[in-house]
Amino acid sequence: MTTTEQDVAAPGGSTGPETTANLWLHFSRMGGYRDAPPPVIVRGEGAWIFDDRGRRYLDGLAGLFVVQAGHGRRVLAEAAARQAETLAFFPLWSYAHPAAIELSHRLAAAAPGDLNRVFFTTGGGEAVETAWKAAKQYFKLIGKPGKTKVVSRAVAYHGTTQGALSITGLPALKEAFEPLVPGTFRVPNTNIYRAPLFGDDPEAFGRWAADQIEQQILFEGPDTVAAVFLEPVQNAGGCFPPPPGYFARVREICDRHDVLLVSDEVICAFGRLGTTFACEKFGYVPDMITCAKGMTSGYSPIGAMIASDRVMEPFLRGDTSFPHGYTFGGHPVSSAVALANLDLFEEEGLNAHVLETEGAFRQTLERLLDLPIVGDVRGDGFFYGIELVKDKATKETFDAEESERLLRGFLSGALFDAGLYCRADDRGDPVIQLAPPLICGQAEFDLMEQVLRGVLTEAWSRL
Ligand SMILES: Cc1ncc(COP(=O)(O)O)c(C=O)c1O
Repeated sequence: MTTTEQDVAAPGGSTGPETTANLWLHFSRMGGYRDAPPPVIVRGEGAWIFDDRGRRYLDGLAGLFVVQAGHGRRVLAEAAARQAETLAFFPLWSYAHPAAIELSHRLAAAAPGDLNRVFFTTGGGEAVETAWKAAKQYFKLIGKPGKTKVVSRAVAYHGTTQGALSITGLPALKEAFEPLVPGTFRVPNTNIYRAPLFGDDPEAFGRWAADQIEQQILFEGPDTVAAVFLEPVQNAGGCFPPPPGYFARVREICDRHDVLLVSDEVICAFGRLGTTFACEKFGYVPDMITCAKGMTSGYSPIGAMIASDRVMEPFLRGDTSFPHGYTFGGHPVSSAVALANLDLFEEEGLNAHVLETEGAFRQTLERLLDLPIVGDVRGDGFFYGIELVKDKATKETFDAEESERLLRGFLSGALFDAGLYCRADDRGDPVIQLAPPLICGQAEFDLMEQVLRGVLTEAWSRL
């Protein structure tokens, strides 16, 4: 496929640099847009997005791991309009509204174990922030005020607010904002492709990686550690699934030291791995779940921290309150859209579809392993990372200059020009990340593979 073959009527958007002169893009080198504007996306339909020149692109990243049900779903837009007409806004500050009440029931019913209490936010970083604050106050309320610290993993991304950023394991994202919130510590992640030990024995590697968490808790002193924040499949670094036995062992470690296990499912929940909550897929029950992105398929922003009965219990005592909240947390329109989105998941069997086709998705992407530049293909569900290497045999990676030239200078633009929106990421080793809408099937998998094959072959020849 070429984008020119897929051109549709241009909707008449302007492409002059003046169009973005007042816009400050996120995580972007704004100097680069002085003379050339960024792509302007004007419309979406199913798994496709369209720019202001009328070109269409396969949305290989569901926006940003968000648009689970695909673009242009009228039923979600209508749910938003209905709610806006009925009650556009009311806060959850000592009042409730029907959409948030119903959504809290739905999420609690879908969550494992006794995770029954839902605190709504407007996005993922706020959910992470909320979980850390709830953990700190929980331990103060139960007479363990020294338990405040957090353990998280190297290269993991947990958001940009100062607490969530402090939990994030990416020094380059933190440097400009130091000093951040003190009391967070990193342990190794589950990148078995680059395992320092037990790289050929996933179970032993999983035991080792989980034990690093216990070591860190012991180094800091269990009486000072409140929580461990882990993604079911770690995004940054390129989709690290948990090795077998990893989460069972982490659960035991957390129980042994009375440390809360927070499953950060901002990406992994809502079908990304084929289950509503990803901890279900890997068979563990956390003390809190943080989630956001896919809850509305992106049709309106919302996030949540879901807490167990045990975490909630001291907050129900006497005149205790959790002095924390967001004006727009649990917004009525977003809550109504989330309910419609969950209905749509059920009607269309989106989780089942992911479970049925995840093997085919993996197999299709694994075809790329015949290319000299593709070192590893890893992930789960509809959530994959393709690690690029300079030398497959030694797993040698690219130096900073090559990474810059390859990822920023060539790959992202070339993939987009070839009709695939996805992401080339070097927050760890260089990877291409894919997380398409959950409505995709073999035709879209094949297209992704074809575009990647062409562009990666060209990238190799340029090295
Ligand atoms: C695991 C994880 N946690 C938290 C966040 C922050 O979410 P948000 O950008 O909605 O604040 C993200 C965002 O990508 C994420 O992937």
